[in-house]
Amino acid sequence: MDTGNTLLSIRDLHISFISDDTVSRAVVGLNFKVNTGETVCLVGESGCGKTVSSLAVLGLIPQPPGSIEQGEIIFAGRDLLGLSEPELRRFRGKAISMIFQDPLTSLNPVFTVKEQIRETILAHESPGAEALQQRLYKLISSVGLPSPETTLAAYPHQLSGGQRQRVMIAMAMSCNPALIIADEPTTALDVTVQDQIIQLFKSSVQDGSRSILYITHDLGVVANLAQRVYVMYSGLIVEQGPAATLFAKPLHPYTRGLLASLPGTAKRGSLLPGIPGSVPDPSDRPAGCPFHPRCSLSLEACKQRLPQLKECGQNHFSRCPILIHSKKSS
Ligand SMILES: Nc1ncnc2c1ncn2[C@@H]1O[C@H](COP(=O)(O)OP(=O)(O)OP(=O)(O)O)[C@@H](O)[C@H]1O
Ligand SMILES: [Mg+2]
Repeated sequence: MDTGNTLLSIRDLHISFISDDTVSRAVVGLNFKVNTGETVCLVGESGCGKTVSSLAVLGLIPQPPGSIEQGEIIFAGRDLLGLSEPELRRFRGKAISMIFQDPLTSLNPVFTVKEQIRETILAHESPGAEALQQRLYKLISSVGLPSPETTLAAYPHQLSGGQRQRVMIAMAMSCNPALIIADEPTTALDVTVQDQIIQLFKSSVQDGSRSILYITHDLGVVANLAQRVYVMYSGLIVEQGPAATLFAKPLHPYTRGLLASLPGTAKRGSLLPGIPGSVPDPSDRPAGCPFHPRCSLSLEACKQRLPQLKECGQNHFSRCPILIHSKKSS
């Protein structure tokens, strides 16, 4: 069922990385969407395909070794996979912008903040000098950076990690994009600064016109930010739904494991339950449900067939027939 006005829709996406002797199937049938004005979180452990999926949206998968074998990425009605490189460049930074985990690798050390934001704007628009200056000042203030004059004149190394991430957000917002993809943007920051940055994301969507796809492995951040959540495991979505529903009634053992690993939810004095084992290597994924080797509920059938996503509540879908069935019979 479709609700809201879909801005980005990824359908049955398959991405592989091919080297001499291995094919690494990083994404194996990914489906998700982001509606206009919505903040959606994509959550999952390291190596499950979050970054690769978001890079595909911007046409940034290195090909080779990468290969988008199948699927559609529809943004505002257009299939981005069909666009040429110059057409994609017009989208990047303008309609869709991306913020990465480490701002130091995304910012150029030899240019000032002003030069870098200005370049992003001028790649897409041609404001006059006066209008450009005003816009730069406004952007710097809007992300809570002190003294626009000083910040704009600074080089990246003269700013703290939190300030650099604010600069990245200002740059990402500089052309007023409809969608911001933020890939673990607060991982490198301490907790207080992390909270401030999350607040900044929240305020940036307040007028309802902007969407955010926020990628994280931190369910604490998800609880604070997301309206809807997709839980990704080993290249596909295993559970999706409204954030409140997923936290209150998770219906996939992987989501339950992630929730049990949250510091606040573990019983006092006990070890963090976590999830035993690790995400399978995408070149050697187990048959059936990819989570079955780590799952305490797994049955013989889980080893044979990959379960489909099934609706198990309002806008709530899970791939685990065992938990969906136990919910129905309880
Ligand atoms: N350029 C590449 N060449 C080969 N394999 C790659 C490449 N980029 C990603 N992969 C593989 O794709 C899989 C998914 O990686 P991805 O970076 O999307 O994970 P992630 O969910 O973002 O993890 P993390 O939380 O650590 O950022 C991994 O197994 C990774 O090794
Ligand atoms: Mg990643």
